[in-house]
Amino acid sequence: TVVDNIAGYDYGANELATSPVTVKELDLLKQTITLDSDDQKYLRMAGDVLEPQTESIVNMWRGVISSMPHLAYYFKNDAGKTDEQYKTRVKERFKQWIMDLCYKPYDQDWLNYQHEIGLRHMSAKKNKTDNADAAPFIPMRYVIAFTAVINDSIKPFMAKNGHSLGVIEKMHKAWCKAVLLHVTLWTRAYCDHEW
Ligand code: HEM
Repeated sequence: TVVDNIAGYDYGANELATSPVTVKELDLLKQTITLDSDDQKYLRMAGDVLEPQTESIVNMWRGVISSMPHLAYYFKNDAGKTDEQYKTRVKERFKQWIMDLCYKPYDQDWLNYQHEIGLRHMSAKKNKTDNADAAPFIPMRYVIAFTAVINDSIKPFMAKNGHSLGVIEKMHKAWCKAVLLHVTLWTRAYCDHEW
């Protein structure tokens, strides 16, 4: 589904730069992570379970960030004040990301937007989309480290539709691989040389 009412959500936009990552590199990365068509099938199932829950999921992740001052810092300005409008706008894009991860084909448009998300976490583009004045970049180490939270905490949400434990396990495994693929692509924005 094309979503054009989310502020700053530029997926598929013509202005978006082409990702420096090639389709060939993407393919080898997927092979390395062992993300296959079976995983893709379970991701779609996960999408069906998660779709009505994206607001709760993002609220829960936000709770984790708020509870850690060293992470909450990245939504605050120099004076230590949280930019609420920034948080609200980013939240809608975060919810959409959950759906995109589960449903979108991992094609060139998708690849381009992953690079954009990487740029939006680092100094190149953080704050720009929402005209925020929060901290200028998120260190790459925290983006990588936060995958632990993103992956652990999603599992109970996957159990909501009464799937068997075996199916939940497969959806979760596919989710973890997909998150790893996304975050790995985002690191391309941070490290040019020897990526
Ligand atoms: C933006 C996911 C780590 C803070 C976003 C967006 C997504 C996302 C989907 C919206 C992208 C868009 O504009 O469409 C993730 C995931 C992470 C992660 C999956 C780790 C696995 C972090 C960490 C922080 C953080 C550790 C630190 C608090 C932010 C901020 C924005 C953002 C401030 C807004 C960036 C901007 O100015 O446009 N993130 N994120 N993220 N994330 Fe993360």
